Amino acid sequence: MPLKNAVYPGSFDPITYGHLDIIERGLRIFDTVIVAVARNSEKNALFNVEERIALIREVLGNNGRAKVDTFDGLLVDYVRRQGATVIIRGLRAVSDFEYEFQLAQMNRSITQEVETLFMMTSVPYSYLSSSIVKEVSSLNGPVDGLVPPLVKRALDAKFNR
Ligand code: COA
Repeated sequence: MPLKNAVYPGSFDPITYGHLDIIERGLRIFDTVIVAVARNSEKNALFNVEERIALIREVLGNNGRAKVDTFDGLLVDYVRRQGATVIIRGLRAVSDFEYEFQLAQMNRSITQEVETLFMMTSVPYSYLSSSIVKEVSSLNGPVDGLVPPLVKRALDAKFNR
């Protein structure tokens, strides 16, 4: 039986099948998964936040239990404002662990009301990142199977194809 609300934060520049895998599995556990696009990411973005949100909304379609939003400031403050108590994060490989451990511990030191739940990314997506998708696409390589067709079209448009 699904439980409460969870926030799945990230930069999603752009959303990939790896993220979708985590969202779909999160929806089996939680009533609502809020996909929260971080505004204050220091990363050099290809898509602006509004473009990223539009892509995620299109990809998720009419799933009333998956919401898309954006946030800035502290993640735990946003999570509390949403009335949620859980942050979902995907772990791809051991290399993700150190950073994720730091984030989760820092968030927990700010508030113990919010718990971080880690899900192991499904094997076919364990090597995926938005950066690698952007790099392959920029070099006109194949990204089918890594991102939904509408994201592939958006990447093609960004790279003037
Ligand atoms: N499948 C495929 N790829 C995945 C994935 C999955 N399941 N899970 C993560 N990734 C990739 C992402 O595509 C991303 O790739 P990129 O680096 O090439 O863009 C990378 O893994 C990790 O990025 P993401 O999950 O988007 O996290 P992030 O590090 O960009 O953002 C925030 C982390 C936004 C959650 C964090 O910075 C934050 O909480 N910021 C708010 C401010 C705050 O509260 N700071 C204090 C926190 S202690």
